This record gives sequence, structure tokens and C-alpha cells, in this order.
Amino acid sequence: MSDQITVSVNGSRVLVPGGASVAVAIAIAGAHCRTSVTGEPRRALCAIGICFECRAQIDGVQHQRSCQVSCRDGMQVNTDD
Ligand code: FES
Repeated sequence: MSDQITVSVNGSRVLVPGGASVAVAIAIAGAHCRTSVTGEPRRALCAIGICFECRAQIDGVQHQRSCQVSCRDGMQVNTDD
């Protein structure tokens, strides 16, 4: 699980350790996950799939909990950032 893989976060290539969650890739990219209804940037909070603050579009599927999805090489991630 130590090999680096490449994912795209908002169009930027990000190197992450194999097995890392998408939430980690988003954090490495310096992005936030979504924007609240009041316009505040939201990021992963619980990292165990409960709070839903880490939602992002992953490979075209909206509202995925990024803390619960492992990165795969070539994955496309888009956030509200
Ligand atoms: S960080 Fe809470 S559900 Fe992902």
C-alpha cells in the first residue's frame, strides 16, 4: 500500500499513497470538499462516514463521502472548491 498513485482533484494532478482515501487526496490538493448553504467551505470532519461533510463528485458520481472511498489511479475528483 506504499506505492504512490495519481488522482485528479479539480483538474490538478495529486500524488497520494496507495490506499489513501479521497478525502486525503482533497486535503493534499489544498481544496475543500463542498460549500455549505451559507457559503462556508467544508472539509472532512469525522472520517468515519457519519457527518457527510466530505461529500464530493468522484468519477462523475455526485455526493460521495470522500472519506469512505479509496483512491484509484486515474480517479477524477471534483469538489465545490
Ligand atoms: S468526513 Fe464525515 S462522512 Fe466523511
